[in-house]
Amino acid sequence: MTPFLLISRSAEYETRLRALLGDRLAVVPGEFLLLGAEAVVERVESTPRIALLGPVLNFEETRGLVEELIERHRDIGLIVVREQRTDLEDWVDDLPLHAVLSPQATDATTSELLDRLSAWLVENGRANAEDFSNGSRPGFASLVSSEPVDDVSASEASALERPSEALDEVVLGESIPVEWEFPPLPDGVPSEAIAIVAPKGGQGKTTLAVNLATGLAEVAPNSVVLVDADLQFGDITAVLNLTPERTIVEAASDSAEDELVLKTALTHHPDGFFVVASAPSPELGDLITAAALGRLIERLREAFRYVIVDTTPGLGEGTLVTLEHVTDAVFVSNMSVAGLRATRTEFQMLTTLGLMPSNRHIVLNQVDKMSGLTLGDAEALVGAPIDVAVPRSSAVLLAANRGIPLIHDDVRDPAARAVRSLVMRIAPEAYPKRSRIQRRRRRGTE
Ligand SMILES: Nc1ncnc2c1ncn2[C@@H]1O[C@H](COP(=O)(O)OP(=O)(O)OP(=O)(O)O)[C@@H](O)[C@H]1O
Ligand SMILES: [Mg+2]
Repeated sequence: MTPFLLISRSAEYETRLRALLGDRLAVVPGEFLLLGAEAVVERVESTPRIALLGPVLNFEETRGLVEELIERHRDIGLIVVREQRTDLEDWVDDLPLHAVLSPQATDATTSELLDRLSAWLVENGRANAEDFSNGSRPGFASLVSSEPVDDVSASEASALERPSEALDEVVLGESIPVEWEFPPLPDGVPSEAIAIVAPKGGQGKTTLAVNLATGLAEVAPNSVVLVDADLQFGDITAVLNLTPERTIVEAASDSAEDELVLKTALTHHPDGFFVVASAPSPELGDLITAAALGRLIERLREAFRYVIVDTTPGLGEGTLVTLEHVTDAVFVSNMSVAGLRATRTEFQMLTTLGLMPSNRHIVLNQVDKMSGLTLGDAEALVGAPIDVAVPRSSAVLLAANRGIPLIHDDVRDPAARAVRSLVMRIAPEAYPKRSRIQRRRRRGTE
């Protein structure tokens, strides 16, 4: 079988891909495009399952090839190999592509993308697992063959029934990082999901969520996703100065059952984590059901090491469902009697409902000598030890206004240090020397 087809004008790229795919790759040099797209596709002898188009092909040439390939091989997977340029958005909008790959992508990234697209084609009945298998390259087709095709779940079955036009909407590309990086979770590494909650508004949930994502991304680059589940008034993209193409509306939709579709709904932050942006309007946010939010968290946990969920104040349905799907909860309160009392009530309620996640972290935020309360008073009001105390700091406000996570903006700031200690509670490996102490402490508080 030669499941992969490359049409490009770069001999260098051809050599690289040939080294990676061996005899499973058919190549037609882009020079034949002088004779037209039809002439190029006519030269392809086998039935390709995935075509890589580029580099060094222009838009018209690529469009011609895409049309010819779909005409002859209706179910083919299509990848454009091209740099991330501003006009890439037009390509992705105008052509029924499945992915865009940087020509500079590492072999591991390229293999991963081909693996995932192969698996997607098989799962959706567009190819057979055998099309991609190759006994001489163990591991490469493992993703494809590990899932028996006849063992389809209800959701996969409905995907099979979707008309092909709908499948053509499965487009990847806009929100991907330069290298299409999405590191797979190593076997046996559990994913951790952390909900940031508070009974009252304005306590610092979003500030902590953003800084936690930045800190965890240092431990697990590109394996962290931050979900803005403040469904009506989420402001994470504003705090981070990001302009999302897609939001939680797409991420929580049924079509995002497919990982490739889910990916397009994410926005990448340069600090090495992904964001699921809040809905573009409160009305749209209101349409997202608690159940859909729960499913989204579960799907993200399959692909990411850390899933951080920023929530709406209080214990609304969305927050309760979020708490059902997480391993850790970070409770945030400021130094006010009302906030601390409400936190205590929240604990009691969650314990009664059986919704207290296994790891609990209590953060006292905006700690300030002027509040008239001591740390001891705060602990007495909450009825539990305070795990992390974050001082009130003008650096927090400054960082937020500049769209930069505090822990990168001013690492020595006492508030930044406090946030780092929260990162260490969740990822003790962040600072190996202290990891054992942290683990012991964590066990002690559970
Ligand atoms: N430690 C701190 N020092 C100074 N300012 C802070 C600190 N923590 C948060 N703030 C500021 O307090 C305000 C509220 O914080 P934030 O938006 O994180 O709270 P929230 O709990 O997410 O609010 P909401 O309930 O509205 O979502 C923001 O302006 C933020 O910059
Ligand atoms: Mg908030």
